[in-house]
Amino acid sequence: MTDGLRMTVLGSGYLGITHAASMASLGFEVLGLDTDAGRVDQLNAGRLPIHEPGLEELLCAGLEAGRLRFTTSYPEAAAFGDVHFICTGTPQQPGSDRADLSQVHGCVAALAPLLDRPCLVVGKSTVPVGTARRLAAELSQACPGAELAWNPEFLREGSAVADTLAPDRIVAGVTSGRAEQILRQVYARPLAGGAVFIVTSLETAELAKAAANAFLATKISFINAMAEICETAGGDVRDLAQILGADPRIGPAFLRAGLGYGGGCLPKDIRAFVARAEELGAGASLAFLREVDAINLRRRARTADLVHELAGGNLAGVPVCVLGAAFKPGSDDVRDSPALDVAQILTGMGARATVYDPAALDNARRVRPGLSYAPTLAGAAQGAHVVLLLTEWPEFTALTPGRLGGIVARRNIIDARNALDPAPWQEAGWEYRALGVAADAAARARLDASP
Ligand code: UDX
Repeated sequence: MTDGLRMTVLGSGYLGITHAASMASLGFEVLGLDTDAGRVDQLNAGRLPIHEPGLEELLCAGLEAGRLRFTTSYPEAAAFGDVHFICTGTPQQPGSDRADLSQVHGCVAALAPLLDRPCLVVGKSTVPVGTARRLAAELSQACPGAELAWNPEFLREGSAVADTLAPDRIVAGVTSGRAEQILRQVYARPLAGGAVFIVTSLETAELAKAAANAFLATKISFINAMAEICETAGGDVRDLAQILGADPRIGPAFLRAGLGYGGGCLPKDIRAFVARAEELGAGASLAFLREVDAINLRRRARTADLVHELAGGNLAGVPVCVLGAAFKPGSDDVRDSPALDVAQILTGMGARATVYDPAALDNARRVRPGLSYAPTLAGAAQGAHVVLLLTEWPEFTALTPGRLGGIVARRNIIDARNALDPAPWQEAGWEYRALGVAADAAARARLDASP
């Protein structure tokens, strides 16, 4: 069954669309499934419901080549696929740190009874350890020829296409040689391109994704904890990160201090990882991740405090320009967006915050309808007393102090992503502040007063 494999991709979020379009571009016949008929129509018409560089082109190429289409029909998917990829979302449960697995369970429950021939069901969603083993039992009970593998996805938003077509590693959590061989065929092209193929158990494959995200979040919170120390003691976290990153044992990636991490993965995945460890009686092992989360959230409050400070200790009615709504540049995703949280905190403190983002305004308006938005950068900056750079889009990092200086009412800027060169701003008469860089006088006074 490994010749001319036909695939279904269940779920059409970031992961599902990217995986479906990528597999079609590798030459496979792919049927995407989503229960949302509107979304399926949109995708079949070649319209991408998310902002992801290069993905719409890949989607259209697959549709035009006749190798990719989307359906709402489980019977059609069951009849079509030799390999079924589970790519549904696992968001944080409201009011809990646990992952909401209803979409994963829902799609297996819908698919399993319809399977009537040997096939491989491959989980790509991020799930708590132990989920795959339970799904495997459910599947084999419904159809003896149906087998489960776990194959986590490590793609980043903004570079999802490249990460999917040329991943650095492919994790195959399998319970048989047959499953391993099918996954080797699925990923033959990336493997030929040098991707590392790691065969392991279902549990290790599930843990791989949680552990990778926990490590990345920890690295970011580590440098942000150093930023807090720098702010207190008078250091410069950018220099510190450069010094640490030059050590090959540490490496420079994910040491950009600033407003911290957000998005649809890192925040909820580390919380779900801790919650799962606690359920298993191993909560102490991951207790440090609660501190990682706390450091990350403190950066948002600290940014709002800096605005308060720059505004002279009173934010009532103060116009603040908020540059950024997406959780990172290159994406229109506003899930757990640090930028929107800061805008919300400032609004709560009485400021007149106006948000601008080159791609995420529609999504931001939907999830935070109470905030004020401007359709252009100039509109948000007009008359501002403080400008905040919260998402490092190229449009913002290319700003010049002269151009912005002609629009704002007061020359105060907070570079919450350490994305600007301070010198030209300071030379142009701006009060420039960044996270992780102390205002010299305050830090010196603290050092002098310390024992
Ligand atoms: C992440 C993982 O990188 C990816 O492997 C996994 O599959 C999904 O989760 P993503 O959420 O797309 O990917 O974004 P990522 O590039 O990891 O950035 C996450 C957040 O961390 C962003 O808010 C970003 O601004 C922030 N970040 C990143 C920092 O604050 N500092 C850094 O040095 C790097």
